[in-house]
Amino acid sequence: MTGEPMVKAEGVHKSYGAAHILRGIDLEVQNGEVFCLVGPSGSGKSTFLRCINHLERVDGGRLSVDGQLVGYREKNGKLYELKDSEVAVQRRDIGMVFQRFNLFPHMTALANVMEAPIQVKGESKAVARERAERLLDRVGLRDKMGNYPSQLSGGQQQRVAIARALAMEPKLMLFDEPTSALDPELVGDVLDVMRDLAESGMTMIVVTHEMGFAREVGDSLVFMDGGVVVESGNPRDVLGNPQHDRTKAFLSKVL
Ligand SMILES: Nc1ncnc2c1ncn2[C@@H]1O[C@H](COP(=O)(O)OP(=O)(O)OP(=O)(O)O)[C@@H](O)[C@H]1O
Ligand SMILES: [Mg+2]
Repeated sequence: MTGEPMVKAEGVHKSYGAAHILRGIDLEVQNGEVFCLVGPSGSGKSTFLRCINHLERVDGGRLSVDGQLVGYREKNGKLYELKDSEVAVQRRDIGMVFQRFNLFPHMTALANVMEAPIQVKGESKAVARERAERLLDRVGLRDKMGNYPSQLSGGQQQRVAIARALAMEPKLMLFDEPTSALDPELVGDVLDVMRDLAESGMTMIVVTHEMGFAREVGDSLVFMDGGVVVESGNPRDVLGNPQHDRTKAFLSKVL
């Protein structure tokens, strides 16, 4: 892993009104890395992902994806906010998978996966369909392509959501607790798809409470609390031998 990091956060701050949520996040996610983000509820994990994906604008520090500032352009040492249309172009390259799958309920699995490349990139139906079929096959849903979301289990819906994000051929995938809304017996299939994606070299940031996945698949792990990075490193080290009391207290509850 060499060259520019895929994500670089330097002193990133974010407030909602008077609530100061991110209080100076510093981290780097390298190309091809599986980067796990863990921490207690309310620590700012989702907020940070939303900043990376331009759903929120950072209000202090610098955040860049693949060498490009998120939401801003720098000119002669000054930052200028990007227009919505420019933000949309940056966002295309980032796939996001949420806890709730947010599939279009009136569309089949296949149509869900075909939709964005056609609407956003102006791709032909034939090309979009060919890719969607390949992706649904890859996530183990070859025989469910014609099903509507209501005809799929939660785990199957989440795998459609992953295929849908991949259809835009992102350079970075963000996962926000992708398995925490699933029945336990459905978690494994989704984690298998994520493991396969990691092996293919995708750069992934994964907010998760699945410490087994983090330990096995993760290249780095960050423990966040109160809007700052408390501790980071190799997942096996951080989980096996946490250095900070806050990390120890958190892990004693989830492990
Ligand atoms: N749009 C918003 N407006 C105001 N406050 C918000 C908004 N979004 C999040 N917050 C607040 O920011 C804090 C961090 O929320 P965030 O969702 O990032 O936490 P989290 O670490 O993802 O927690 P969880 O593990 O429960 O998902 C919380 O106190 C939350 O109430
Ligand atoms: Mg969250």
